[in-house]
Amino acid sequence: MRNTKVFIYTIAAVLFLISFIAMLIYGYKSFYIESDTNDSQDYKYHFALIAEETENDYWRLIEKGAKKAAAENGIQLEYVAPQKADNNELLRLLDTMISAKVDGIIVQGVEGKRFVDLVHKGNERQLPIITIDTDVKNSERKAYVGTDNHYAGQLAGTTIINNTTGDQYVGIVTGRLEAVNQQERIAGFKQAIKDHARIRVTSIKESNITEIGAAQATYALLKEYPQINALVGTSALDGIGMVEGLHEIAPNKEVYITSFDILPKTLQLIQTDKIDATIAQYPEEMGYQSVEAMIKLQQKALPDKQVYTKTEILNKQDAGGEIR
Ligand code: BGC
Repeated sequence: MRNTKVFIYTIAAVLFLISFIAMLIYGYKSFYIESDTNDSQDYKYHFALIAEETENDYWRLIEKGAKKAAAENGIQLEYVAPQKADNNELLRLLDTMISAKVDGIIVQGVEGKRFVDLVHKGNERQLPIITIDTDVKNSERKAYVGTDNHYAGQLAGTTIINNTTGDQYVGIVTGRLEAVNQQERIAGFKQAIKDHARIRVTSIKESNITEIGAAQATYALLKEYPQINALVGTSALDGIGMVEGLHEIAPNKEVYITSFDILPKTLQLIQTDKIDATIAQYPEEMGYQSVEAMIKLQQKALPDKQVYTKTEILNKQDAGGEIR
C-alpha cells in the first residue's frame, strides 16, 4: 500500500516536472514571438484590414499590397476575415476592431443598417474607416478605395457587344447576391446591354465566391437553360469554375466566356482559349492605396472620397503580356 503511494507520488512529481519544463520552453517561445510581432511601441499606427474571406487569393493580393505600404511607412497592419464569406461574421469582426481601438480600419463594405451603424460608431470615436473593394456610399466611411464596380460591369457588357454576333443568351455566375459590388456589376452589365436586343440575361446563379460553387452554378444554368451561349462570371474564381462546369455539361458547346479578375489560373485559361475576356482589377494596388489613404486620414480629411483603381478588359493578346 505504502509502496503504491510512493509510486503514484513519484509519477505525479515526474509529470509535473516535465510539464513545468515544457511550459517554460513553449511559454517563452510564444511570448517571444508575440513581443516580436505585437510591440506596437515601434509602430506609428496600428491599422486593421478586414477581408471578405481569409484564404481567398484575391484578398491575399489586397493584403500583400496593404502590407507593402504598411512596411514602408512603419505601420502595424492586422489582416482579419471570416474563414468563409459571411456578413454577420465580418460585422462582428468590425465591431471587435472598433472596440480594440486601432487607429484605422479598412474593410469590405457590407449591405445593410448594421454596417452603417458600426461605421457611425467608429466615427463617433474618431476612428477612421475606409471601405475597400466594395463601397457603401450611404455610410459615414471616410473614403472608398477600389474598382468602380458599376463601370466594371459595363465593361463586361462591352466585351459581349463587341465580340459576339447574333442572339446571346447570357448566364451570369455571381459571387454572392447580397454583396454590393456584385449587385453593382450586374446592374452595370444590364445597363450596357439594354439597347442591344440580341443580348439578354437568361438567369443568374451564385457561386459563393468558390471555384466549385461556380462550376455547380454553371452546370445548373446550362441544364436549366440549354440555350445559354454566353457566360459572365462576376467574382474572381467564377471564370475558373465556369470552365469546369461547362466542360462537365457541354464540353463541345461554343460559349462566349467573360470572367472577372486576373488570378494566374484565369490568365492561363485565356491563353488556352477557354476564357474569352476578363475584367481586370488590381487588388494589390487597392491594398497599397488604402493604407496610404488611411495614413493621410490620421492627419486630415481626404479631399477625394472615392479612389478608383484601374479596371480594364483583358483578352488573349493582353494576357500574354506583362500583367501585374
Ligand atoms: C471581388 C471580391 C470577391 C472576390 C472573390 C472579386 O472579384 O471584387 O469582392 O471577394 O472576387 O473571389
